[in-house]
Amino acid sequence: MAQGDRGLILGIETSCDETAAAVVRRGREILSNVIASQIAVHFPYGGVVPELASREHLRNILPVVRAALAEAGVGYEDIDAVAVTEGPGLAGALLVGISFAKSLALSLGKPLIAVNHLEGHIHAVLLPPQGIGTLEEASRGTTLALVVSGGHTHLYLAEFRKDAEKDGAQSGAWTYRNVGRTVDDAAGEAFDKVAKLLGLGYPGGPWIDALAPHGNPEAAPFTFAQIKAKVHRKGEPGALDPREAIYFSFSGIKTAMLRYIQMHEMRAQIEARRRALVELTEPKPADAVALCDKRTLDLIASFQRSVVDDLRRKTFRAAERFGAERVMVSGGVAANRELRARFTAEARERHLPIAFPSMALSTDNAAMIAAAAWPKLVAGEFAAEGLTAEPSLRLGR
Ligand code: KG4
Ligand code: ZN
Repeated sequence: MAQGDRGLILGIETSCDETAAAVVRRGREILSNVIASQIAVHFPYGGVVPELASREHLRNILPVVRAALAEAGVGYEDIDAVAVTEGPGLAGALLVGISFAKSLALSLGKPLIAVNHLEGHIHAVLLPPQGIGTLEEASRGTTLALVVSGGHTHLYLAEFRKDAEKDGAQSGAWTYRNVGRTVDDAAGEAFDKVAKLLGLGYPGGPWIDALAPHGNPEAAPFTFAQIKAKVHRKGEPGALDPREAIYFSFSGIKTAMLRYIQMHEMRAQIEARRRALVELTEPKPADAVALCDKRTLDLIASFQRSVVDDLRRKTFRAAERFGAERVMVSGGVAANRELRARFTAEARERHLPIAFPSMALSTDNAAMIAAAAWPKLVAGEFAAEGLTAEPSLRLGR
């Protein structure tokens, strides 16, 4: 990047069911952050339909990019680089963003930067209004980052390795070491599947988040006992050392919920609730409160408490085990209010700094992609010509 450039990055994100574009200056200042949600398209199916997601991205990408530039008050020619999500995510969905970003960068003669979606989530914690103050602060010592979303429940040790100052910007690179993961479902997936089981809306997280305060979280506690046996059986494919790694498992709780529903003969009520919600033009969690009896609300509260506490216990165990100096939590499930409250309380007890992205930046967005691309722009780390979608892309070693 030459002297005098403004460090404006246009970020593009299409890994799942949000078409997003944003303009971010020097990795910190969000000039625009536009998201076209596909919730209405996938709602009737209770989950993302990959082919529909790709078509919606194709329909939305150009208007969303135009809106991001207009909102930022800049033109194509003002952009210093285009950044795009390379993976992980749905192949067809990723390809829309990547093809668009490649063509745009080529026609503008600007560099193209490939960003790992998980790295994007981690960088959302560095962005205002809520994130960690400065790169200087965030890059001191080791950070334990929990990325907890619909596709991932991963723990990383993140460090910023500085090298020279370039054009007034600190050059260096973030490095990540994966120290924990789920052995089956992601936490967000559990929220989504359980909400579906209970006849609630999609995506399930915000519904469960809104309904849980109406129930008793201690009414039906669930346990997470089966994890060790599973890891042992499956082996560890990545660089994770099974002797020190932290494992999550969320498929068992879904089965336990199913059994609970069967045992307490809740099916008729669930079906009635599902039908009542589908008939509403824009169903919202508040509409579901009156459609849930006490047993259902208790079940929802207990489910959320169990998941949040499992995430909390293991994240702080990891922070202790790996000597982390701060904790960052990001990804869609980081928007959960009980999670934020219980993590914050534990961090305070341990005198450990903790940070979350703002609510809006917890779920998928393109500002986080543009933010994660900034150190790469400074370091001149650009995408190869053959850049393509990497649906199972891993982060770090
Ligand atoms: O990060 P994200 O937008 O997309 C992925 O990368 O997966 O995360 C979406 C996930 C969904 O599973 C959704 O149910 C969950 O985040 N989620 C929540 C909340 N808001 C979104 N889970 C719990 N509580 C919430 N408030
Ligand atoms: Zn995500």
